[in-house]
Amino acid sequence: METPLKHVALILDGNGRWAKQRNLPRSGGHKEGAKRAFEIAQHAFQHWHIPFVTFYAFSTENWQRPKLEVSTIFRLLNTHLKKQRANFIKEKIRLHTLGDIAQLPSNLYATLMDIKQATSQFTKCNLVLALNYGAREETLRAIKLCIQASTVQSLDWNTFSRYLYTADIPDPDLVIRTSGEVRLSNYLCLQSAYSELYFTPTYWPDFNKEAFDLAIENYKKRERRFGNAEQ
Ligand code: IPE
Ligand code: IPE
Ligand code: MG
Repeated sequence: METPLKHVALILDGNGRWAKQRNLPRSGGHKEGAKRAFEIAQHAFQHWHIPFVTFYAFSTENWQRPKLEVSTIFRLLNTHLKKQRANFIKEKIRLHTLGDIAQLPSNLYATLMDIKQATSQFTKCNLVLALNYGAREETLRAIKLCIQASTVQSLDWNTFSRYLYTADIPDPDLVIRTSGEVRLSNYLCLQSAYSELYFTPTYWPDFNKEAFDLAIENYKKRERRFGNAEQ
């Protein structure tokens, strides 16, 4: 029997190459890319009834990019989130974040905290932004928290996973990466232990509802075994 999809996690990649194809600055790709995330989330909630959709928007390694690109990404994100604030509330979408968002520019941090707080009572539709997120940083943080809580002796996966950023979020059933790269780039490495992976050559700013539907249809044909024998 097919189990309902609870969580789809996306790696938004290819903004730069999308812009280059059009002789635009990289920021043009980031601008268009920011718009796609909310559209795809709405479609996932409304059409597919998927309760959690996560977007990898900025990794712990992305700080290595030129300062101007980094600040532009944050500025665009802040503008876009502020624009969507009313829609989060109207459509009862709860915003979550993964990663150390306190390190982000203060205006973006304030916007994130404001929307998270304003939507914290919603449960059905959850839009998760991985921002300044990296699986290795997340793992080290969880280990340190476990040591502080002195839970190391009796540690099991259930306890450990409570210290991850995703404590209240189910493991992804499906991880989608756009742009043709076939790697996880430090994204949800522990949580995706048994996730189905889907890679598409489409650049993120071109990833539309139809492209999302194709990924879901592909997922539905997979047989998930979790270490079990073939059914
Ligand atoms: C994804 O697009 C956005 C972020 C990583 C912030 P890229 O900026 O990585 O685009 P490409 O991979 O260079 O085309
Ligand atoms: C992964 O994309 C990170 C995000 C989408 C936020 P990158 O473009 O940073 O990944 P690499 O460098 O190609 O692995
Ligand atoms: Mg990239």
